[in-house]
Amino acid sequence: MTSCFFLLLFLHALMASTTYSQGVSMEDGELLGLFEVMGSLLADPTWAQVHPQPCTNTPWPGVQCELMAQENSDDQQQQDYNMINPTIFHVTKIHIGMDILNTPPCKPTATLSQKSLLKLPYLKTLSLFNCFTVSPFYLSSSLFENNSLSSLEYLALVSNPSLHGSIPSSLGHIQSLKILSLSQNNLSGEIPDGICSGLVNLQELDLSYNKITGSIPKEIGFLKSLTIFDLSYNLLQGQLPSSLGQLQFLEKIDLGFNEFSGRVPQEVGNLTKLVLLDLSHNSFSGPLPESLVGLKVIEYLVIQENPINTSMPLFIGSLGSLKALSFSRCGLMGPMLTSLSRLKNLTTLSLDNNSLNGTVPSSIGSLPNLEELNLSQNQLSGELVVSEEFIRRIGKRVDVRGNNGLCIKNGTFSVKSPNSCVDARSKSGGNKSSWDEDDSDECGNMNTSLHQRNWCTRSHDHGYGLNKMFLLMVNFYILGFLV
Ligand SMILES: *[C@@H]1O[C@H](CO)[C@@H](O)[C@H](O)[C@H]1NC(C)=O
Ligand SMILES: *[C@@H]1O[C@H](CO)[C@@H](O)[C@H](O)[C@H]1NC(C)=O
Ligand SMILES: *[C@@H]1O[C@H](CO)[C@@H](O)[C@H](O)[C@H]1NC(C)=O
Ligand SMILES: *[C@@H]1O[C@H](CO)[C@@H](O)[C@H](O)[C@H]1NC(C)=O
Ligand SMILES: *[C@@H]1O[C@H](CO)[C@@H](O)[C@H](O)[C@H]1NC(C)=O
Ligand SMILES: *[C@@H]1O[C@H](CO)[C@@H](O)[C@H](O)[C@H]1NC(C)=O
Ligand SMILES: *[C@@H]1O[C@H](CO)[C@@H](O)[C@H](O)[C@H]1NC(C)=O
Ligand SMILES: *[C@@H]1O[C@H](CO)[C@@H](O)[C@H](O)[C@H]1NC(C)=O
Ligand SMILES: *[C@@H]1O[C@H](CO)[C@@H](O)[C@H](O)[C@H]1NC(C)=O
Ligand SMILES: *[C@@H]1O[C@H](CO)[C@@H](O)[C@H](O)[C@H]1NC(C)=O
Ligand SMILES: *[C@@H]1O[C@H](CO)[C@@H](O)[C@H](O)[C@H]1NC(C)=O
Repeated sequence: MTSCFFLLLFLHALMASTTYSQGVSMEDGELLGLFEVMGSLLADPTWAQVHPQPCTNTPWPGVQCELMAQENSDDQQQQDYNMINPTIFHVTKIHIGMDILNTPPCKPTATLSQKSLLKLPYLKTLSLFNCFTVSPFYLSSSLFENNSLSSLEYLALVSNPSLHGSIPSSLGHIQSLKILSLSQNNLSGEIPDGICSGLVNLQELDLSYNKITGSIPKEIGFLKSLTIFDLSYNLLQGQLPSSLGQLQFLEKIDLGFNEFSGRVPQEVGNLTKLVLLDLSHNSFSGPLPESLVGLKVIEYLVIQENPINTSMPLFIGSLGSLKALSFSRCGLMGPMLTSLSRLKNLTTLSLDNNSLNGTVPSSIGSLPNLEELNLSQNQLSGELVVSEEFIRRIGKRVDVRGNNGLCIKNGTFSVKSPNSCVDARSKSGGNKSSWDEDDSDECGNMNTSLHQRNWCTRSHDHGYGLNKMFLLMVNFYILGFLV
């Protein structure tokens, strides 16, 4: 509200001093601002000459304008003008990126100045992809001061390797901001408090793939509208603040590949809209709070590579909406949960490289949607009985290697592989060490079958685990349904 008020004041001041050129349905000051911004970014020095009327006759795909009503005015000359031209174009979007056909590249010395941005008070979207690539550019505090970018809703500075330095706290002045993506830059320093206390309308915060240090400020709890929170691939550490649980609209939290530690706060279980929780590759310790049973719509739970060091958390069996579950390398011990069989929508189950022991619940083999199963490097034993339909569906994406006593069987006869069950004779002998671990010929005719290679994976081929490509897809999926 206040920012709106200031914006109006500001406009009045601007318009009083504006001369209106004949036939140009845009204010001179704003047009000049656009030329300045493009001139300071693009390598093409002729941009302004080629696009003298960027909102109308000589458009450019990376620039968008909107027709808006003229503001009311006390000034008589202005009122007369408004009578004849009740509407006017304003620049609302600047996007530079490889998706714009024939985009001239940004110049090596590309820069942004507050002075020029101040002339574009209606800008809602500023998006610069792969623009700052050569000479170092940093976000000066002044860039976001004095009501600059006061209408901005979407700020994306993505994939700019020479964008370095810290994120200025003054960014928090842009109260209208809904989406902030500073992903894949070279940013360092801590997450400024200003972002949390100021950006009260923020829905998406993506600072992934930088070198951001420090911890998550507890003031994060102020960002009540946040739906996407991605800090993955940084150098963040410390414990998660319990205030995270106040962000009731969160749908995606990705904190993977940082140095976070401590317990996951109970309050995270309050996030009833959460679809993705990725805590992978940190130092979170167990036990995970049973309150996570509150994640009623969670589809992707990625805990892999954290020293959780407990038995399998019981709440997992209640998360019926799960599609992908990864606890790889989490130090899990004891038996596998039989309640996993309730997760009918599960497509990927990764429990590899833990210390799970006992038998594999037979119901795993009948999970109707399972497409990838990795139980390798545990101490599981017994037979994993699977149907032929299961084999057909899941193909080679079953990995049970590295379990001393575990073998796969489809019910009628054994299959030879490092994981295959020996024939009935040795089984009845009850000698665990007789599980077939070498290439000898015990399983007779199945020995040469291609079929077996298809599902008792010995090959290392593509790493079908929950890899980054998969997570990227998740990313797009989630962004997809929000935007
Ligand atoms: C902000 O505005 C004040 C007063 O007009 C001016 O003195 C100051 O230099 C401005 N700051 C920046 C960063 O432009
Ligand atoms: C990223 O920043 C570091 C300093 O923090 C610098 O040494 C490095 O060259 C930068 N990388 C690029 C691609 O500019
Ligand atoms: C949030 O979680 C905590 C701990 O699990 C619980 O005590 C509290 O009542 C929850 N708050 C809301 C608003 O659900
Ligand atoms: C978890 O287990 C691993 C491997 O046994 C061990 O190195 C680590 O110290 C344990 N971590 C914690 C937090 O208990
Ligand atoms: C499982 O997936 C189906 C189809 O996407 C969906 O309709 C159903 O609600 C899901 N089940 C749960 C428990 O989320
Ligand atoms: C299993 O995890 C340990 C650390 O937890 C790691 O050193 C080892 O390489 C992993 N093994 C495999 C096969 O990934
Ligand atoms: C599993 O391992 C635990 C120790 O971690 C042991 O107490 C238990 O007996 C083992 N269970 C089986 C079935 O081997
Ligand atoms: C086990 O696999 C063999 C060979 O593919 C097949 O003929 C047989 O019907 C399967 N048995 C079951 C119970 O699926
Ligand atoms: C199991 O097999 C091993 C090696 O083949 C043998 O040394 C051991 O005595 C057998 N144990 C039993 C209980 O048969
Ligand atoms: C089984 O495999 C071994 C080694 O791979 C091979 O020498 C042997 O001929 C095969 N047996 C049959 C019956 O195909
Ligand atoms: C299963 O997990 C192991 C150990 O973490 C890994 O080496 C292997 O590539 C995974 N298998 C598949 C098929 O992804």
